[in-house]
Amino acid sequence: MRLQGKIALITGGARGIGFAIATALGRQGAHIAIADINAQGADAAAVKLREIGIQAQGFMVDVADAHSVETLLEEVTSQLGRLDILINNAGIGGNTAFLDITLETWNRTIAINLTGAFIVAQACAKRMVEQGHGGKIINIASLSGQRGGNGRGAYGAAKAGLELLTKVMAVELSPHGINVNNIAPGAIETEMAATAHDAATRAAYNYLVPMVRYGTPEEIGDAAVFLCSDEARYVQGHTLNVDGGFRAAGLMFGDRKAPSSMG
Ligand SMILES: NC(=O)c1ccc[n+]([C@@H]2O[C@H](COP(=O)([O-])OP(=O)(O)OC[C@H]3O[C@@H](n4cnc5c(N)ncnc54)[C@H](O)[C@@H]3O)[C@@H](O)[C@H]2O)c1
Repeated sequence: MRLQGKIALITGGARGIGFAIATALGRQGAHIAIADINAQGADAAAVKLREIGIQAQGFMVDVADAHSVETLLEEVTSQLGRLDILINNAGIGGNTAFLDITLETWNRTIAINLTGAFIVAQACAKRMVEQGHGGKIINIASLSGQRGGNGRGAYGAAKAGLELLTKVMAVELSPHGINVNNIAPGAIETEMAATAHDAATRAAYNYLVPMVRYGTPEEIGDAAVFLCSDEARYVQGHTLNVDGGFRAAGLMFGDRKAPSSMG
């Protein structure tokens, strides 16, 4: 119970990585606020958490809309009393070749994945500064923000921007006792990946990732628990890649198969 008594807001928590992080933080004693553009999904996710003994409530938000985010923060802080942890996770996928990216696609991707993340982070950080007892902010970036993958022009640019924003936030929020870090997932088995990754993409990931498999949302949840815990108090402005070695890998040869277990 490393997060007992903490109030954690998770955007995009109705499913996928956000829901897995909500579950992992809740299992450590945090009270969970799930906020999602899919209001029904957020409520259903909160019900699922309560069924396993986690205190949780669902909220509606569109992270790209500053008014909607302000309303969310008012609801969360008035109902739950305070805010200790933000998991800035809401996002949309993107897989369009550079020459085919329309301005509409570009603007929408940046509006949700970068501007939306900024709006939420700033609104939450203001609350944490006012409260005066520090906090933890984790931005969910992506390996697509670090490597130039096919089709990741708009998506990768947004995530690269989020990584840089995290560093500036870390610098400016350190005096307030707020830790700001990124988790950069590699290829993770979620509904987003199910729609965005075709067979060729999957084969390419399995070739490029030393662990020869996709990650699970639960593996991102475990990393989030660490960064939200007191054990990570001196980790600041860092990007924790959770990617099966995708970023680290260079030339790979020899027996390339997924291990049955690792220790
Ligand atoms: N799945 C992967 O392989 C992968 C890899 C790297 C990074 N990521 C990042 O992880 C995060 C979660 O991804 P996922 O795979 O769980 O995706 P997902 O599509 O399964 O879930 C995303 C959630 O965000 C919500 N959402 C979308 N737009 C929103 C908005 N404007 N306001 C509020 N909520 C909104 C959706 O309703 C959904 O519940 C995203 O930021 C994504 O870019 C995912």
